[in-house]
Amino acid sequence: MHPKVNLIPAEEAHLEQLVRLAECSFPDPWSAGVFRQTMHSPASMLWCAMDGEIVVGYLAISRTGDDMSVDELAVHPDYRRQGIAGMLLETAHRRFPDSHFFLEVRQSNASAIALYDSLGYAPVGFRKRFYQNPEEGAVLMQRKCHTNPPHADPSSDFGGAVSEPVGSPQ
Ligand SMILES: CC(C)(COP(=O)(O)OP(=O)(O)OC[C@H]1O[C@@H](n2cnc3c(N)ncnc32)[C@H](O)[C@@H]1OP(=O)(O)O)[C@@H](O)C(=O)NCCC(=O)NCCS
Repeated sequence: MHPKVNLIPAEEAHLEQLVRLAECSFPDPWSAGVFRQTMHSPASMLWCAMDGEIVVGYLAISRTGDDMSVDELAVHPDYRRQGIAGMLLETAHRRFPDSHFFLEVRQSNASAIALYDSLGYAPVGFRKRFYQNPEEGAVLMQRKCHTNPPHADPSSDFGGAVSEPVGSPQ
């Protein structure tokens, strides 16, 4: 576990670093415009994992009805396998304990599928030719919530600051 990493809501000042991180993580990276739109959408949440002033990871989630969608997740290559993606996702799960989480992942992305599997996600579907550049199918994965309805208040604390060391108690 990386001892120095904190989670904070993304801000305009992080845009350049977010774009660079996306570019070194995905063949079809988000543009600055998509990051900005996500940052300012009331239905979305974009968190940065920070090592000091350096953005070393990010997670974007959004509400779709009663469920949460994991829209984008990346960790800088130099910081991988230190629990940072797990920390980002577990923070989201704790923030929305009454929601099911869904995501799509490239079928060849074994490391991400292993990560999601380790956090309780299971495959629930497959979407042919979901991705371009290169064209590839998507595995649809779901993590069921462990509580009963009623669902969390959709107007709850999107955008709230989160600051915790990696590996702190749940
Ligand atoms: C997928 C990604 C976000 C994982 O980030 P990370 O911070 O390295 O993940 P973590 O350290 O939290 O990994 C937690 C667990 O996931 C699994 N895992 C993560 N990376 C793995 C890999 N390369 N191979 C096998 N298992 C892996 C392991 O079970 C790991 O636990 P362990 O290290 O104790 O064995 C990162 O590799 C990445 O940014 N990849 C490029 C972008 C991407 O594919 N994003 C996901 C799109 S759906």
